[in-house]
Amino acid sequence: MTTSADGRRAVLRDTAVALPQWPRAPFPGVIAHHPGPSRRHGHAPAFHEATVVRGESASHYFRASGISALAEENGGLCTFWMGPRLGLYQITNAPLVGEDVLAPSTDANRALFGDFMGSMPHDHPDRPSKRAAVERSLGSAKFVARLEPDVRRHTADHLRLVAGREVPLDDFTLTLTAYVDSVIPGVLDLTQRPLPEYLDSAEYGRVVRGFFDLASDVISNDNPGAMREFDVIVPFVRDLLTANFEALAEAPAANLIRRYFALWELPFTRRSVAALDTARIKELGTIIVATYDTTALSLMWALGYVESDPQVKAALTAEARAGGKDGRCPRAGSPTVADLAVLEAVRLGGSNPSALWRRTTEAFTLNHRGVAVTVPPGTMLWLDRRQANRDPAVFPEPCRFAPANIEAIVRSERETVSSLLSRGRYEINSFSMINAERNPRKCPGRLFSVRMQSIVLSELYGHYTVSTRGVDLRLRRHASMPRPACPGTITIHRDTGTPREPKR
Ligand code: HEM
Repeated sequence: MTTSADGRRAVLRDTAVALPQWPRAPFPGVIAHHPGPSRRHGHAPAFHEATVVRGESASHYFRASGISALAEENGGLCTFWMGPRLGLYQITNAPLVGEDVLAPSTDANRALFGDFMGSMPHDHPDRPSKRAAVERSLGSAKFVARLEPDVRRHTADHLRLVAGREVPLDDFTLTLTAYVDSVIPGVLDLTQRPLPEYLDSAEYGRVVRGFFDLASDVISNDNPGAMREFDVIVPFVRDLLTANFEALAEAPAANLIRRYFALWELPFTRRSVAALDTARIKELGTIIVATYDTTALSLMWALGYVESDPQVKAALTAEARAGGKDGRCPRAGSPTVADLAVLEAVRLGGSNPSALWRRTTEAFTLNHRGVAVTVPPGTMLWLDRRQANRDPAVFPEPCRFAPANIEAIVRSERETVSSLLSRGRYEINSFSMINAERNPRKCPGRLFSVRMQSIVLSELYGHYTVSTRGVDLRLRRHASMPRPACPGTITIHRDTGTPREPKR
């Protein structure tokens, strides 16, 4: 998950503030500089107009303004002024800086996310145990592999209920992901009142469905009602914990919610649930929503792309019907066709805002083409993730959905999904806000998310004929998270040749 959604609105306050001096290229002769259309405010007013008024993505602005082209011609970097703030724009997936000179990813958003680890400084003593609470299960290849039969079984159950009806694709992936995440043992264990019931509720539905989009509205302050609305997360989480209390009390040790209670050194009792403070409730709410929300979005892109490419669809179907690996004898852990399709959709669709930035807290030395410059604190370090994920130097068909793009980054026979997603790999940046050395904040749920999507695809194409209608894979305007312009609909029909599983 990520929060400052496209990073675009957070800079608006700067639009009225003039540049300290003019003209100013901060690193002449070393890093290219794009002056922008306004002599007094650099890019700030035009950026505001493009991203907020016209609702375009930040990445689109960088391309249209000429910043991307300038960076491409100059080793991947370019500076610009966003009002009085210096922006350092990057168009490649390579780390420029260590985590120690960066402000937390969700800087200054404690009011939104409570004690969530993303808002904590890199050296905060609680960060390692908070990360471990998620990473020990969802980041473990062994744990995730053990989940496979349960993910398959519950996916099959859910698909049977949807079969034969035309449903909106976004609703299909959201409900499916939220359901499976709720019921597989050792993840959320919300079996008494699973998440889809909350997605449909009049009380909580809007917030629970649009959590990260709404967060962006609050951050930007351009929706004054949003903070009040956002706070619905508190009664939602309390209700969820109470309604699922017995299931949670019996849950396996890996359960994320129980791990958080252990971290807080609280017994899991009804009394503790009732007494949880807002900061902890919001932290837990962020973790719970992160578990299904971004995966559902990612799965929507994956399905949209697979359906748009008959060759990939045929390969995926053949693999799924042969019980995995299109009949070949697989080496344990090596990526399947389904894994390649999911990773490729993550690369191309992003499932996460197109361009994001983090603030530097200290001066740091940047070596660019053999010359060192000192970048001052307070600089906005922008990564154009959408374009960096389409780097033609890395991907043979950068703008097309082609699993060959992922095959191109496979380094050896021993590569696995886990190794492709490891912290030290930078080719696909969808699980970090920007590239930082060794990526200590790289999403701890990434392996679970990718594998879960692959299993869902395999179950779906293994037993159903799938068709979609009206899906438009261009980026939707005025959307904080990258969503297809039109999600369209999906219809699935059980294949007569495939044996029926017993009813739920
Ligand atoms: C396709 C699915 C997903 C995408 C694209 C995604 C993306 C991201 C991104 C971009 C970040 C920010 C990293 C940074 O600060 O640089 C992040 C952080 C995080 N994600 Fe995910 N995520 C996904 C799924 C999940 C899942 C399933 C979980 C399960 C709990 C999860 C939990 C988290 C947590 C806890 C953090 C904060 C990490 C930290 O601050 O150290 N994410 N994710």
